[in-house]
Amino acid sequence: MSSTPKHRRIAIGSDHAGFELKEWLKAKLIEAGYECQDFGTDSPQSCDYPDFSFAVAQAVVSGQCDTGILVCGTGIGTSIAANKVRGARCALCWNEYTARMARSHNDANILALGARVIGAELAWEIVKVWLETPFSGEERHCRRLQKISQMEGEGISPQEAKTTC
Ligand code: RB5
Repeated sequence: MSSTPKHRRIAIGSDHAGFELKEWLKAKLIEAGYECQDFGTDSPQSCDYPDFSFAVAQAVVSGQCDTGILVCGTGIGTSIAANKVRGARCALCWNEYTARMARSHNDANILALGARVIGAELAWEIVKVWLETPFSGEERHCRRLQKISQMEGEGISPQEAKTTC
């Protein structure tokens, strides 16, 4: 069973490193008929990516927006930060395949892009795949997502958490 993609209201944000690409993607999205809510930043001046990651993630998990797009230099910092917001499933994607899998298998609700890693045209191809790909809804993927939600809801102690450091 698959669900129809319904991403129309898009929350978008970036830090200074992603500012130019964010502005360019926003123009493309508006031209394509999407509604964009821009959570900043508003200039190439140095700023802190968590501020924009949290704002975009909160807009998505609250239902204010249907999906989110975040851009920083690598896409790494902004995805780490967004994933601290309960309910956020932010996926760093660098090609069309990873975008398709993030939507289809992981039901990811926020796309992270690295402006210093990929070019604008590839970023736009990734965004289009992201917006057009539904979650597969397959039982095994639902089960895995439920496990993530369960852990997120209940929380785990630092002793239980296995880390590599
Ligand atoms: C900013 O220089 C850079 O660190 C940031 O955009 C991002 O790549 C962090 O993950």
